Amino acid sequence: MVKIVVIGSSSMDLVVTSDQRPGAGETVLGRSFKTVPGGKGANQAVAAARLGAEVYMIGCVGDDHYGAAILENFKQNAVDATNVEPVTHTESGTAHIILAEGDNSIVVVKGANDHVTPHYVKKSELLIKQANMVLIQQEIPEETVEYVSELCQELDVPLLLNPAPARPLSKKVIDSVSYITPNEHEAAVLFDNLSTESALKQYSNKVFITEGKAGARYFDGEKEITVPSYTVEAIDTTGAGDTFNAALAVALAEGKSINESLQFANRAASLSVTKFGAQGGMPNRTEVEASL
Ligand code: RIB
Ligand code: NA
Repeated sequence: MVKIVVIGSSSMDLVVTSDQRPGAGETVLGRSFKTVPGGKGANQAVAAARLGAEVYMIGCVGDDHYGAAILENFKQNAVDATNVEPVTHTESGTAHIILAEGDNSIVVVKGANDHVTPHYVKKSELLIKQANMVLIQQEIPEETVEYVSELCQELDVPLLLNPAPARPLSKKVIDSVSYITPNEHEAAVLFDNLSTESALKQYSNKVFITEGKAGARYFDGEKEITVPSYTVEAIDTTGAGDTFNAALAVALAEGKSINESLQFANRAASLSVTKFGAQGGMPNRTEVEASL
């Protein structure tokens, strides 16, 4: 069993389904409203645990009922949440999601996730040191991503950075992480003066550009490779990226080749979109392997 440490956000997703997305100043009637656990960090932790890894989450929740529900959800999914602390007088992170016209739009309010500071993460240094892979995203402060990239380099622990949601990163951070998985939009923000082709070439076997249904691209040192994804009937694509990143981290930590790891990740992500909710549909190991 590989040991994965996830450093990131834990939120409650407030999901409305509607036939129509309202424009500015417009009101429309929705169809349904559901509250389900989410947050990119928590989603990746749950996905990795379902795929058979031993998973430790480092994060923060609020001292509200969403916080308690988020902690309970970690427990249900066998994610160790010893290092997820409730922050007093603070609200849990929330994601306000509209599912309409076959796509989602999301507003994230970070809440307690802003308390995942370098100082907070430092308390778990020993745990990080023992990881086979650390996974991090960008719904926590920028300084934390910088700090963790330095720390992992110093401790010689592989780090996978999922640069979502998009924000610019210093070259130092990009250089120090082991793997980075932008989608096309995030890649444009990260490598602003570079074409995706040159970015892939410059960071061979390290940058994986995800293109949803089309799969993932990387440069293997000699040539560009696209690992195609799978066609499925999508019910809800929320969390597909998180499933992809978690599966990729698990497979790489297990020593699978990049190509095999990307196939595994594409498969897991494609299964995840067949059910409602970010974590609904996240497959277990057997389901992924049976369909590869
Ligand atoms: O990546 C999907 C996640 O992003 C959702 O669960 C929501 O919390 C948003 O932050
Ligand atoms: Na889903």
